[in-house]
Amino acid sequence: MVELLLGQVLRFTGDALAEGPGAAQVIPGGAVAIEGGKIAAVGPAADLRARFPQAKVSDCGRALISAGFIDAHVHYPQTAIIASWGKRLIDWLDSYTFPEEMRFSDPAYAQMIARRYFDLALAHGTTSMCSYGTIHPTSVTAFFAEAERRGMRAMAGKTCMDRDTAPAGLRDTARDAYDQSAAMIADWHGRGRLSYVITPRFSPTSTPEQLEALGALWAEHPECLMQTHLSEQVDEIAWVKSLYPRARDYLDTYEAFGLLGENGIYGHAIHLEPREIVRLREAGAALAHCPTSNTFIGSGLFDMAGLGPAGLRIGLATDTGGGSSFSMLRTMAAAYEVAQLRHHALHPAQLWWLATQGSARALKIADKVGNIAPGMEADLVVIDLASTPLIAQRSERAEDIWEAIFPTIMMGDDRAVAQVWIGGRRVR
Ligand code: GUN
Ligand code: ZN
Repeated sequence: MVELLLGQVLRFTGDALAEGPGAAQVIPGGAVAIEGGKIAAVGPAADLRARFPQAKVSDCGRALISAGFIDAHVHYPQTAIIASWGKRLIDWLDSYTFPEEMRFSDPAYAQMIARRYFDLALAHGTTSMCSYGTIHPTSVTAFFAEAERRGMRAMAGKTCMDRDTAPAGLRDTARDAYDQSAAMIADWHGRGRLSYVITPRFSPTSTPEQLEALGALWAEHPECLMQTHLSEQVDEIAWVKSLYPRARDYLDTYEAFGLLGENGIYGHAIHLEPREIVRLREAGAALAHCPTSNTFIGSGLFDMAGLGPAGLRIGLATDTGGGSSFSMLRTMAAAYEVAQLRHHALHPAQLWWLATQGSARALKIADKVGNIAPGMEADLVVIDLASTPLIAQRSERAEDIWEAIFPTIMMGDDRAVAQVWIGGRRVR
């Protein structure tokens, strides 16, 4: 059976970050045809109604129909400690994050937080994500089981840490990291809509032996993504230099062990040195921009204007619980504000692209999700562009569609998310 969703359809025909709003298309009286979990067609509503006369029709009025949001870097196990006060990265990890992650040795706790996390993600219109687990394989099992139950395209990996910089009780070994990650690749990678991601947390909490073991695992499974953190805070970079005195820079601690490649996604990447930018580009690597986290933890201002044109794939990410919101709308707003502080105004089309296509490209799933086009999986959001009186009175004054959308980017939250569709099925 075909279902037709009518509204203002927002889709991309090119790379809006590079090309600007010309790469975006808004079809005012538009429609999306959904069949068998996929998008069958997109175009003017009148055309699609004529083409699919038997279709079940849902009219969303003036609401915006978009691909669901994709969070390129998140820590689902940190859901319960979001908005923890007063620390910077290393202290924040020691005071809040590591004690919370220890609780995931209990599979029932992991399952409870995984449920809570997916409820929150969907309420905010996030239909796919790439998450870190904890060192416990059961944290990843809980995440995948919950994603599978909901039919979602989701990615995650066991976070590996074997160095004494991580607390006792939250350490594995180089061998365990390899064996447990390999076992989960066999169990989960490519099962339905799930993918396993090899996940060394960051070089300060791994020994060179562990990075080497995970580099070897990645060489055996080049089809998997590899995610980690890179150059988030100045103090962290000094720490990396003291722990890896022979490394040329932070990226070199990964590169030296085979952990730099085109299926690598590096979170934060704020304080990069010129050599690091060159090597990331040569490798074809992707970056995850985490603007609410970078302001909340006080890390710094990501250089979108420099790194986008440098040819790096960039995705947008909440990084919760370091990030302060589950909302990709709020995350777009923070990306706008951070770019403004660097004297660069990102266009609403560029922000929306980053939260959908940009993240999908960074995660190498852009052939499946992150846009509205025939053959793509039907993961969609319907966004109310007048979800609060404040937003409504501003968008009423809009002279074009982007001026109507921008107030929702800057001031919208889960109240703006009117509907969520996963694999062609409405779930909210
Ligand atoms: N660097 C290493 N681990 C983390 C984490 O959990 N959150 C953030 N923001 N940075 C990290
Ligand atoms: Zn992170």
